[in-house]
Amino acid sequence: LQDKKNKLIAIHNATAAFYHQVLMNTVTGEPALAYLKERGFTTELLQEFQIGFSPPDKTATQKILENQNFAASLLKETGIFSDRSDSSELLDRFAGRIMFPLRNEKGATVAFSGRILPTDNAEKSDYHEAKYLNSPETILFSKRNFLFNLDKARVNMRKTSEVVLFEGYMDVISAWNADQKNGVASMGTALTDEQMRILNKTVDSVVLCYDGDRAGMEATRKAIDLLSTNQRFDISIFPMQPGMDPDDYIQEKGPQAFREGIQNHKESIFQFQSRFLKTQIDLDSEKNRVEYLERMLKELVQVDSIIERELYLNELAEDFDIDLAVLKKQLQEYQQVHM
Ligand code: CTP
Ligand code: MN
Ligand code: MN
Ligand code: MN
Ligand code: MN
Repeated sequence: LQDKKNKLIAIHNATAAFYHQVLMNTVTGEPALAYLKERGFTTELLQEFQIGFSPPDKTATQKILENQNFAASLLKETGIFSDRSDSSELLDRFAGRIMFPLRNEKGATVAFSGRILPTDNAEKSDYHEAKYLNSPETILFSKRNFLFNLDKARVNMRKTSEVVLFEGYMDVISAWNADQKNGVASMGTALTDEQMRILNKTVDSVVLCYDGDRAGMEATRKAIDLLSTNQRFDISIFPMQPGMDPDDYIQEKGPQAFREGIQNHKESIFQFQSRFLKTQIDLDSEKNRVEYLERMLKELVQVDSIIERELYLNELAEDFDIDLAVLKKQLQEYQQVHM
């Protein structure tokens, strides 16, 4: 099996080199290269992540790989080729996409993700195909066990005892370019137990930095729930304003503002829950204000530090112009239920 895995990795390496070459040095790659440059990718960054372009001609990849004497039967097992391929003609499922090698913790390329190349006249919603396409599960690649950039980030994660979790690998790469080098992302799925176990081996602190939209906030809440089951993690959130993701933030406010934000402007879980709840509950109505307060007091039960609890209680009392003693009494009731 190991021998087979090594062969499949060799095919991935050769494919990544091919895609990269197409992007950097061919006419075919020019529109993709222009798009990436426009988004702030430098040549060094494209090299560092070995970003590439899969030619629109679906048969080009097979030809290149067969010239390097890889057997067609093995090629089929890589997941690079479409399921509709027959043995004589293997069709690249990623044809026409910008290609990101997915490297395992040792730095070996075990899969790919391809991003669609936007055309000038197509709005975001016009895509007929998914914006991102990943390799299927293979003997080399399982999504639930995979974290993008773990190979590069791990040494920095260990040094800082902190990981920054992003929603997408574009954000990871953008953060890396901004000199925030302890970032990883899952591949379009919610955080899994397996991924949490990997993080637990290396860090104490997890900073969640997901997109500022509704989906990002939902994903943050889910990640908090999962990570909280592990008492070891210190969890905080670096919030993005609605309509922004970390990559947008870096483009707009600059690398230094981003790094400084990760250092000094994180939210606690309680602060995040409060902000999230406010996007869901309209505080103009009395009934909703009561519901908000009750739910936040229930959140407060989870806060272990007495000092932190006192601080948040005071904030709630002030915000809602309500007697602190009343809030304390209600909190105590919830605490008893909790025990
Ligand atoms: N994703 C996916 N399929 C989609 C959309 C998203 O698998 N159709 C996953 C990808 O792993 C992507 C992540 O979700 O990296 C985040 O999605 P999104 O925020 O939409 O993408 P961005 O990272 O912001 O990409 P870009 O800036 O290029 O639009
Ligand atoms: Mn998103
Ligand atoms: Mn700790
Ligand atoms: Mn995004
Ligand atoms: Mn983005």
